[in-house]
Amino acid sequence: MSFQTLFTKMEDHTLIITINRPDVLNALNKQVINDLDAVMDRVYKFPEIKSVVITGAGLKSFVAGADIKEFESLSKEQAIEVAKRGQAVFSKIEHCPKPVVACVNGFALGGGCELAMSCHFVIASESATFGQPEVNLGIMVGYGGSQRLTQRVGKGRAMELIITGKTINATQAMNYGLANYVVPQTELLDKAFSILRVCHEKSPIAVGNSIKAINAVWDEQINGYDVEANLFGECFITDDCKEGIQAFLEKRKPHFKGH
Ligand code: COA
Repeated sequence: MSFQTLFTKMEDHTLIITINRPDVLNALNKQVINDLDAVMDRVYKFPEIKSVVITGAGLKSFVAGADIKEFESLSKEQAIEVAKRGQAVFSKIEHCPKPVVACVNGFALGGGCELAMSCHFVIASESATFGQPEVNLGIMVGYGGSQRLTQRVGKGRAMELIITGKTINATQAMNYGLANYVVPQTELLDKAFSILRVCHEKSPIAVGNSIKAINAVWDEQINGYDVEANLFGECFITDDCKEGIQAFLEKRKPHFKGH
């Protein structure tokens, strides 16, 4: 797999996606958004990819936001298109049936914070900084931040962060529920792998259905309890379900095959 703005590397069935524009602190230009879209298509398609880590190149920044240079002369209509395109790609990440973890290795600002929140959970390095500083530029969040930050940290905290544009450090982000763990920079990927290895031992269907059911909480068009019940039912027609229950009864480790 080769992309203009991303490095990709497979390790233990996890695709590590590194956003690679270190000169501009990995800011998200159109090409990064297109590359993320294309790489996620492959994640959905290839069964050998069981999970994903998204991180940023270098030691300073995960992603310092959308590329401000591309915003210089946008019309209202173009700005709406930019927001919708970013939202669609981040939604593809959020709805991925395989676990996607953000390893936040520095600045996660603006679109960077929104990207991290579109991942299923976040692991932050001790040097990570989170925030939605768009108001400093006379604009506002556009890649889903008003929705996802509110879901993650609650209305009061989201409101304060977004309308002041202030940033928070990794410990505050963990206290807010934005990051699951804070670890030294050198342990970021190891921490992600230690969690993902556990997920890889489970039935990928059970994992994917669980992600879908959790995401249903925020879809007002559907009843999440119905979604959960139906997906629970779907598990029962899989060989993995038979294997899991049989293995428990036989007091052995299950071997899930993903069908
Ligand atoms: N878009 C485009 N370029 C960006 C960028 C962004 N979001 N964030 C940083 N860069 C560029 C800078 O312009 C600079 O480029 P230069 O070397 O050609 O001057 C380079 O990345 C390094 O950034 P710099 O500002 O010199 O680093 P710093 O350590 O002093 O500050 C930040 C780091 C993150 C605090 C600062 O870069 C910043 O505020 N970035 C914008 C954050 C933002 O508002 N994001 C939301 C965008 S909608």
